[in-house]
Amino acid sequence: MNTKISFQQTSCAFPVNGATFVAVDRVSLDIADREVVTVVGPSGCGKSTLLNMAAGLVNPTGGDVYVDGTPVREPGPERGVIFQQYALFPWLTVRANVEFGLTLQRGVGRAERRRRAQHFIDLVGLTDFADALPKTLSGGMRQRCAIARAYAVNPSILLMDEPFGALDALTRVQMQDQLLRAWSAEQRTIMFITHDVDEAVYLANRVVVMAARPGRIKEIIPVELPYPRSEAHRLSPEFAKIRNRVWHAVYHQTPEEEPAT
Ligand SMILES: Nc1ncnc2c1ncn2[C@@H]1O[C@H](COP(=O)(O)OP(=O)(O)O)[C@@H](O)[C@H]1O
Ligand SMILES: [Mg+2]
Repeated sequence: MNTKISFQQTSCAFPVNGATFVAVDRVSLDIADREVVTVVGPSGCGKSTLLNMAAGLVNPTGGDVYVDGTPVREPGPERGVIFQQYALFPWLTVRANVEFGLTLQRGVGRAERRRRAQHFIDLVGLTDFADALPKTLSGGMRQRCAIARAYAVNPSILLMDEPFGALDALTRVQMQDQLLRAWSAEQRTIMFITHDVDEAVYLANRVVVMAARPGRIKEIIPVELPYPRSEAHRLSPEFAKIRNRVWHAVYHQTPEEEPAT
């Protein structure tokens, strides 16, 4: 098993009102090449901070994060990041937004850029909106455009922070299936944060459950369901059993760990 992303005693503390607030406390986690790991936990337990350290957007204050054995110091094209609220360039069309990341890649010509962008625009169901500006789209459509933009660059790692949170239930399930299809076709490594326990189990090879104050790993729950996954897995007793286990780990924390209400 090749390790793709490695958190080694990784901590992150922020100065808050003259004191130090520990958002992530000595997290150690290895994510294998081509693995899908989902992260769940109460609000404020440090999920985004953890992901942002892998993205190179936030620096650890203790320990380190490694990608392919190299400490992360800044963002890089091999790591695609998708946030819950992704800011598209408002003055660019859907197509131009999706092509944008490709314009930064050397050796990708105009025709190839077009072709690749079109492929991912089709994949996320925005074919009829390729020439639309973001302001004319619904929130869900904008998010799908952001996802197409990240996919188009073909990063070997996808870091996704509640990417489907703003989507309606049906679109959300479709996007989950699409993500898994793209993952198995292109063999990417995925770290995926979600509030949705079903989503966490459906996508993951392992579910990481975090606890708050300080943010740390509470439990890692393996999902022993084969890929490719389908509706049949969602409805299976094995799925229900794993979901209940994750649910329990998230919501039945000791009093000081109770999710903030
Ligand atoms: N830049 C920052 N400065 C101060 N505190 C922060 C900063 N970023 C995050 N935090 C705090 O760290 C904790 C973890 O935040 P976050 O990683 O966003 O949690 P989650 O994504 O699990 O909801 C929260 O209490 C949050 O307020
Ligand atoms: Mg967050």
